[in-house]
Amino acid sequence: MSIGISQDKKYFKLDTKGSTYMLGVADGKYLGHMYYGKRLYFESDSEFDRLDYLLGGERENYFPSENCCGENLENREKVTFEDTFPWEFGVPGYGDFREHCLEAVSKDGKESLELLYEGYELLTEKPELPGLPATFHTDSETLVIRLREVKLSLTVELRYSVFEKEDAIAKSVTVHNTGTEQYSLSRALTSCVEFPAGQYDLITLHGAWGREREPYRRPVGPGKQSISSIRGVSSHQENPFMAIAERNATEETGNVYGINFVYSGNFLAQTEMSQFGGIRVVMGIHPYQFTWKLMPGDSFTMPEVVHVFSPEGIGGMTRRFHDLYREHLIRSPYRNKRRPVLINNWEATYFDFDTEKLWDIAEKAKECGIEMLVMDDGWFGHREDDSTSLGDWVVNEEKLPGGLKRLTDGVKERGLKFGIWLEPEMVSPDSDLYREHPDWIIGQSGRSTSLARNQYVLDFSRKEVRDEIYRRIVNVLKCADISYVKWDMNRSLTNVPSGDKYHRYVLGVYDLQNRLVTDFPDLLLENCSSGGGRYDAGMLYYSPQIWCSDDTDAVERLRIQRGTAMVYPLSTMGAHVSDCPNHATKRTTPFATRGQVALAGTFGYELDVTQIAGQEQQAIRGQIECYNKYNELIRNGDYYRLPSEAEGKTYDCYMVVSKDKREALISFVRVTTHLSRWSERIYCRGLDDKMVYLLEDRNTESTGNVLMNVGIEVMGAEDEYQGKLIHLVAKSEKGVR
Ligand code: DGJ
Repeated sequence: MSIGISQDKKYFKLDTKGSTYMLGVADGKYLGHMYYGKRLYFESDSEFDRLDYLLGGERENYFPSENCCGENLENREKVTFEDTFPWEFGVPGYGDFREHCLEAVSKDGKESLELLYEGYELLTEKPELPGLPATFHTDSETLVIRLREVKLSLTVELRYSVFEKEDAIAKSVTVHNTGTEQYSLSRALTSCVEFPAGQYDLITLHGAWGREREPYRRPVGPGKQSISSIRGVSSHQENPFMAIAERNATEETGNVYGINFVYSGNFLAQTEMSQFGGIRVVMGIHPYQFTWKLMPGDSFTMPEVVHVFSPEGIGGMTRRFHDLYREHLIRSPYRNKRRPVLINNWEATYFDFDTEKLWDIAEKAKECGIEMLVMDDGWFGHREDDSTSLGDWVVNEEKLPGGLKRLTDGVKERGLKFGIWLEPEMVSPDSDLYREHPDWIIGQSGRSTSLARNQYVLDFSRKEVRDEIYRRIVNVLKCADISYVKWDMNRSLTNVPSGDKYHRYVLGVYDLQNRLVTDFPDLLLENCSSGGGRYDAGMLYYSPQIWCSDDTDAVERLRIQRGTAMVYPLSTMGAHVSDCPNHATKRTTPFATRGQVALAGTFGYELDVTQIAGQEQQAIRGQIECYNKYNELIRNGDYYRLPSEAEGKTYDCYMVVSKDKREALISFVRVTTHLSRWSERIYCRGLDDKMVYLLEDRNTESTGNVLMNVGIEVMGAEDEYQGKLIHLVAKSEKGVR
């Protein structure tokens, strides 16, 4: 049993292996947050009552008025009570002045809200969320708490699903209109957690196109600190993730609370230090341009928020997210499988290719051991650059005479599988689709709509638009043998009318991706958004991998992949070896290092294999051997960040340890070189103290204990951009020497 309920049904205790989340009902009416942190063990039921004070509100010696502070909450002045109570789901109007989760509008305008506890239910299986991505589990208890609004006919259902092994709690919320009047919601934040006053840091992933997901850590201070997106996608700029780390928490020690939104559109995540120093953390759909009509009988379900607790620092949080997502979020049959080594022609040819050119690439790729050719942008309509033809998903026979069938047959004859690029959500003004349906784009009436990358966004909230695009996609996929789709999305949403459009758009994207993977169950789907602009847990529900960034420079990638791996498993990171000088940064790095860096992800090539040096062509086989040797470990193992550039080192380093601790791989890349410095030693993590490991690169043996405490020297990676892989294999059972 992971959910405990006190005999008097006042308190709820949600236990995972290492954490406890507690909520309780004060005065039979008010649902309050009591505790979140390290696992609590209770001797008896009376322990619940002893913790009753946690619902008392967070103030000491606070006397704003005479009757503010009676022990009996009923007798307390309403505003003071509202202002100080640790609400589990904060709402506005009566005196809770902190950031709230819900706003409802009736015919009288925006209402004050008072949500009173009605009852609870326990489910033994985690329910699906209609039309939304969500974590799944067939054996996880879910607590459902029902609240009722005092005036409006609204009930609010808070759901908490417990993932014991992963120390995670997934929350979702549904609001029902049970009356006869119409309402609308103008705010819908799924999660609200109250942290007691203390010293906390906030960690988020910040970035830009080509520089996605750089971790930032700073103190949580007074006022509000938020990250958000109003771009219609989760965005390059801020990832819908936050960690609250106790100030003394390090990479491997201390309490860290990870929060991640299973959603791919606008979001708001915020910390707020209250007047007494407590911290309220909220996460949900961004209120910008959001209203949702609730007709009588209607319900609205908010996307899921996942909470992960780690008593083992930031690294422990990362590993819990990885485990949770690998097992309970990604649905694709590929999630635990090795992906084919692919070659993508984007950086090889950009728009300048034809059938012959692609066949040449396929032929050489096959010789090198590559398994799939992916044809990127530029194969349809009359697209010779990015100014035209999106929406016209019909092959350009001038470039590809005989169409996709002839091309893919030829690729197959050369021994490769075939994948294709699509950008289903977009339309170019210069396209037959736009000429036929100029009203299918997202825009506001009476205003021009802004172009970005010469394209408009199709209104995927409309079923007829989705149906037509889906019909076109299916035509493409059915006319040839296509094993893989790269689903791209290259601009933010703008000129979005207020109301439900932003959210319905995201639901439309989910609907189409769902149809695609249901109708083509063997298809390997990769999501992409100008690189990593929609790298989120929502997308991972549909595709087991996401293109990490358009920055393919190996050194830059070290940082981008390190940041991405803060939350998302290595098995999901699209990573390719590209040509040098790198097209974007102009940096030249050794081919071997580029291969090593791409090993951290799905692995592939993004270059013209017919044009690179013979030595590099020959090196590809060796790199693929490495991929075959290590991919299982990298895909399924525990990921440990080792001190790197951000910690003042001259290198980047991480390691992956198998679940049984019998195998590990260290990846080290020298980023800058200096003379006359203390030689760098790497202190391994996650090994078995007593296990004896063989270090394959130097053919020596050491116990895990020595490797973790004395460290190892890295030999053969002294020069700038030189990399080194160190493979550790357990030699004997425990207890030696
Ligand atoms: C952006 C993607 O991230 C690239 O990999 C490439 O597919 C281009 N779009 C094509 O337009």
